Amino acid sequence: MIASAPPREDLAALLKWYVDHGLDETIGEEAVDRLALSPAAPAIVPTRTIAAPTPIRTPVPPPTARAPVPLESPQLAEDARELARRCTTITELEAAVRTFEGCALKRTAKNTVFADGVAGAPVMVVGEAPGADEDRLGKPFVGVSGQLMDRMFDAIGMSRTRDLYITNILFWRPPGNRTPTLAEQAVCVAFTRRHIELAKPKVLVLAGGTAAKAMLETTEGIMRLRGKWTTLKLDDGTEVPTMPTFHPAYLLRTSASKRQSWLDLLAIDKKLEELGAKASS
Ligand code: URA
Repeated sequence: MIASAPPREDLAALLKWYVDHGLDETIGEEAVDRLALSPAAPAIVPTRTIAAPTPIRTPVPPPTARAPVPLESPQLAEDARELARRCTTITELEAAVRTFEGCALKRTAKNTVFADGVAGAPVMVVGEAPGADEDRLGKPFVGVSGQLMDRMFDAIGMSRTRDLYITNILFWRPPGNRTPTLAEQAVCVAFTRRHIELAKPKVLVLAGGTAAKAMLETTEGIMRLRGKWTTLKLDDGTEVPTMPTFHPAYLLRTSASKRQSWLDLLAIDKKLEELGAKASS
């Protein structure tokens, strides 16, 4: 007897359940039982492995010396801050981020998305989190919203191959593009703050409400924050002129707001001119 196919609604409900849990891509025809493949399957309760980048002076004690720390623990943000503080170059920081195991998002992401553009460029853009395209390619802002961002900067004569350094507050894609938890943000922001100290931009651009709130430690929304210069104070004493602006993904949905973003871009251009930081074309 041929078994009848499950009802269509059941299949639709199952697919929705997958998407809600972040499974939004198929990667093979057959399901693989990875537990059966590997007798030493990874523990479900995360253990803590914080690897240090190469020349770190005081190594963090090895993971075996510590009890497992839950991935929501504030201790992990402390660890991230300490690791980041010891990095003296962007290369070291990138290595530290790539080997850091204290953020749950890393477990579901395909790639660590660290940065793109020119380290040391006058403008550093910090967005929210990698999406599916960024996760696949390992670079920030390479999907449709990134392409819009490129066109916008191009309109003021700036490009990611010369004038921009681009990153996100999160280095790993949240499954299904869900909003990152505050614990996930806190861990990654610890690295991002050090990233800004080391990149030394003349001007920082925060793309979207999540990045603006996390970096400026405010509950104020992007509608109020955008278009106004503020100063980001970093732990090494540096103060960076900072412009919060709409996220390009928001502009793709709400093109009436492009006018305000254009004003933000003009303000950025003017600030660079005042600071003598504009590249000659
Ligand atoms: N949105 C972001 O905030 N960052 C990316 O890298 C891509 C989309």
